[in-house]
Amino acid sequence: MSRYVIQPSRLQSGDLGVPGDKSISHRALLLGAIAEGVTHIAGFLEGEDCLATMQAVRQLGVDVEGPHSGDVTVNGVGLRGLRGASTVLDMGNAGTAMRLFMGLLSAQSFDSELRGDASLMRRPMERAAKPLREMGARIETRDGRPPVSIRGGADLHGIRYAMPIASAQVKSAVLLAGLYARGETVVDEPAVTRDHTERMLRTFGCNVALRDGTARLQPPRRLAAAQIVVPGDFSSAAFWIVAACIGAFGPVVVRGVGVNPSRTGLLEMLALMGADLRLFNHRNFGSEPVADIEVRPASLTGARIPARLVPLAIDELPALFIAAACAAGETLVTGAAELRVKETDRIAVMAQGLAEVGIAHEVLPDGLRIEGGSLRGGTVDSGGDHRVAMSFAIAALRASGPLEILDVANVATSYPGFVAAARQAGLAISEAA
Ligand code: S3P
Repeated sequence: MSRYVIQPSRLQSGDLGVPGDKSISHRALLLGAIAEGVTHIAGFLEGEDCLATMQAVRQLGVDVEGPHSGDVTVNGVGLRGLRGASTVLDMGNAGTAMRLFMGLLSAQSFDSELRGDASLMRRPMERAAKPLREMGARIETRDGRPPVSIRGGADLHGIRYAMPIASAQVKSAVLLAGLYARGETVVDEPAVTRDHTERMLRTFGCNVALRDGTARLQPPRRLAAAQIVVPGDFSSAAFWIVAACIGAFGPVVVRGVGVNPSRTGLLEMLALMGADLRLFNHRNFGSEPVADIEVRPASLTGARIPARLVPLAIDELPALFIAAACAAGETLVTGAAELRVKETDRIAVMAQGLAEVGIAHEVLPDGLRIEGGSLRGGTVDSGGDHRVAMSFAIAALRASGPLEILDVANVATSYPGFVAAARQAGLAISEAA
């Protein structure tokens, strides 16, 4: 089982880039596949999660060239051009891939079966299956989890669905099925969730409106191929942003990061804790806003994190917990029960790691109360969770001794090249089998 060993070190000041956005890379492949014409994707994330989506798209009969240094060409087959796969579609570790494919495949004329790795096989899929069934899909889970079997030939109709949980994956699954449904499909979200699907659908020429927490989609006659430039992944930048706050020699700039407001709750949380952050060089990559982010080292103070920010930082909370561990006083995060059904139970796994490095905390059903303090070295088990592994890697910047992090291979799902980037940034990190 691969592991990291990190010796006490500091982040160099200077510039960093991050790999392409995972959410946007998945969506570019899926929409490119069912568009008419040739879609070019630049800055595609060559991580295992998106490669699983690419493999599945190929199994469905779509010719995809690449990836070549982030460049991908998708020869779209049109809305009705997918072909049934001859074998099971393996989504690996990728919850996004599975839930988005559930929506897309519910509307096809052929049967499909979706599986994943051990972590994904434990994750809840009824949240997406239920509204799809309401639309007329014939979709089954096993005790609410994968494998997911989808019977082809269903006749879908649009619905209005009020999501009980704030999930961009569920919203996206319903919208993708809605592309093929009779009538309008409407999704109401209980809190803001990432809107990459809606933005990209518009780029592909589909009429979808997003206002006041409601997405409305009119089924299009066709999607038109597009040129997509994928921004740097804010969720990967998050590790360097927190690292720069807690353990850098001087200012750090992360360049070319996607700053879609449905993703950047971490910046507001850190600002509440006294972080010194600045966004500049604002521009757009297609319909997605991008900026450079400058972070200066700061003495953080614990804060009560407003619940409204939690869905805007759902993937960044492990990194925020490390910021909280390094802050003076108490930080309280609640309203984050969704963390329990991510790649691991991130509340439990982060709590165990915090205990190992000597940080006092209280586990809550829907969050953590963390008392900032001094971190010691030790051995933390990431449970195979990429974001937990990278969060403790940056925690090592403040540990008094070497930190060993176990079961880190899944970092490659979202951040290929993390170790090389970390080393270049000054972290004394090595990876061992
Ligand atoms: C994602 C949505 C979020 C997020 C995940 C990616 C997406 O999941 O945690 O990493 O690309 O739509 P939920 O929809 O379960 O909140």
